[in-house]
Amino acid sequence: MTVIGTPRSRADGAVKVTGRARYTGDVRLEGLVHGAFVTSSIATGRVRRVDVTSAAALAGVVRVFTHENLPRLQPLTHGAAGQDFLPLQSDQVRHEGQPVALVLAESLETAREAAARVRVEYQPGEALVDFRQALDRAIEVEDWAPCETRVGDVARGLAEAEVTIQGAYRTADRHHHPMEPPAVLASWVDDHLTLYDATQWVWGVRGAVAEVLGIPVDQIRVRSDYLGGGFGCKGSTWPHEILAAVAAREVGRPVKIVLPRSQAWTAHGYQPATEQRVVLGATRDGRLTAVRHECVNPTSLADDYVEHGSAGTRSLYACPNIETRERVVRVHRNHPTFMRAPHEGPGMVALEIAMDELAYELGLDPVELRLRNHAEADPTSGKPFSSKALRECYRLGAECFGWARRPAAPRSLRDGHDLVGWGMASAIMQTFRIGASARVSLTRDGMVLIEAGTQEIGTGVRTILPQVAAEALGVPPERVHVALGDTALPETGGTFGSSTTIGVGSAVQDAAVKLRRKLEQLAGEPGLEPREYGEVLALRGLERLSMDGAWAPPRKAEGGQAYSMHAFGAVFAEVRVDPDLPIPRVSRCVGCYSVGQVINPKTARSQITGGMIWGIGQALLERSALDHRLGRYLWKNLAGYRMPVNADIPDLEVLFAEEFDPHASALGARGIGEIGAVGIGGAIANAVFHATGTRVREVPIGVEMLL
Ligand code: MOS
Repeated sequence: MTVIGTPRSRADGAVKVTGRARYTGDVRLEGLVHGAFVTSSIATGRVRRVDVTSAAALAGVVRVFTHENLPRLQPLTHGAAGQDFLPLQSDQVRHEGQPVALVLAESLETAREAAARVRVEYQPGEALVDFRQALDRAIEVEDWAPCETRVGDVARGLAEAEVTIQGAYRTADRHHHPMEPPAVLASWVDDHLTLYDATQWVWGVRGAVAEVLGIPVDQIRVRSDYLGGGFGCKGSTWPHEILAAVAAREVGRPVKIVLPRSQAWTAHGYQPATEQRVVLGATRDGRLTAVRHECVNPTSLADDYVEHGSAGTRSLYACPNIETRERVVRVHRNHPTFMRAPHEGPGMVALEIAMDELAYELGLDPVELRLRNHAEADPTSGKPFSSKALRECYRLGAECFGWARRPAAPRSLRDGHDLVGWGMASAIMQTFRIGASARVSLTRDGMVLIEAGTQEIGTGVRTILPQVAAEALGVPPERVHVALGDTALPETGGTFGSSTTIGVGSAVQDAAVKLRRKLEQLAGEPGLEPREYGEVLALRGLERLSMDGAWAPPRKAEGGQAYSMHAFGAVFAEVRVDPDLPIPRVSRCVGCYSVGQVINPKTARSQITGGMIWGIGQALLERSALDHRLGRYLWKNLAGYRMPVNADIPDLEVLFAEEFDPHASALGARGIGEIGAVGIGGAIANAVFHATGTRVREVPIGVEMLL
């Protein structure tokens, strides 16, 4: 049976489109109250007075919490990946949009009306919100990844170079904006808490809430049945999740908080803007002699988030001299966070525009320049790649796009009145591997159940996990059901870093293989047919047979760090620009990717096209603009924030360079959730240059930059 590698439609498609899938906001419990936040209108300073008289007098209001009456909590220690600052613990204001009161009421309408009646007096301080005004205050911080790397000597490499390119590159602040807003429902029974939560990591929330409340983790259960997207903004624990738990304990009733879109802007993180510098040195024949890549991003006052813009640069091109560096500037803003294709997503825009500039400088085809610098081993760590089919990606992508017909000169392609441009870029995304466990069970009727705590963020987990189990057991995938999104189930990692197929997929495979072996053992004879599974159980008097499986990346001693692991891609884009009103529009994209074994080509294609659309937004539309005086986003809605709609999205062609990565996971797969969002931004920017002859080193590329 070959179920792995065959396209299959979403197993959860029907329940989602018919409204039967239960999201956090849909959960109703007896006696629940609704919460609404009052948020700060200043970016820094103190809360002098909160007048709740009018709010509390409203019929249906249950309680109003401020920093004066909310219990003090234990400190939170997320580490480098989340916000530890807890609001409503003191009079301190650290960013606009910070919760300064929480109203609980019998209905959502009453809660919001009462919140609007709360009067807050502030003592404002002097706010710094624009990190670009304070680049001289950029500092290095400790992080999970190195903020400085160096191989060789870039100064020497630049001295040897015959051609040098250097430039400043910028990406904009962006927000995740999943369809489902932040939502949580906290319910206590005695000293046990159940949190229904829109989260990408049920165990992360459990740990954080246990920490601030000072209770054991086994008194908390976190559930997340379905997610309406997350893209990273639901990856760590944010204040509303913690405050719902505290408030519910205080009033002795379940508390539900579903945030309005306007508050989602500051209730969780955003992708911080970047200010990047890239310096490239090369010989006349196009061999890189030096690469330097520096990236600075804003972070919040108390917590660190580093956008590792040079993450891809460390591993992508062969060069003896590479230096990278990341720093942050503290500003009076809400805390930034991971967003789909963090690090490489913004970083590769800079590197790949610079590579395009170098190609023009050398008079070399952009694909040829990249081939001449193709890395056979990781240029920074020196390690071999676990598997890499990037050469094949360039070849297949270029062929599909028709790249060979591209005239080199800018402004040389036209379609009627429109200028047409063709650009390309490489893509690279680090492979994150997180250990996971899973249980696979068989019942007498021949049905199979997969249990794993992992969340379904919308990527197709409920579709591909059955394929993995079905393949191992030799049963049709329709017979396999899935239970997930619950800390009561076998533990997995969070839904981030494109890691679910690798970790959870491999754990499910392990459990299913063990189950099949056990069945063969119970049958007592070799050659057991899958249709006989039920009989074996009946014969042994068993209603159900379960096996636990697990997978973890090998430890260092076992050679776990022996390989450099990345997803790769080659992305080609066509844009059209009306020279009279130069609004760039994408008219065609082709991406070819090297991601290891593809479990389900259909859901994989959806992942990649979703990523490409993410990149079209990055290149041409999305920007969370700030009022630099007030520290407030200029608009807190989806009318002001431009994101791609159907009319912005042309035909997207997705190809995979087939391979089996024997080192990344038991399934031969690497991650696919984020690589689609890498490279596309640079490819579009390069296509805009090819169309117009104007080099823009900033995204999103607006009409004003091309006039
Ligand atoms: Mo993703 S940005 O790793 O949730």
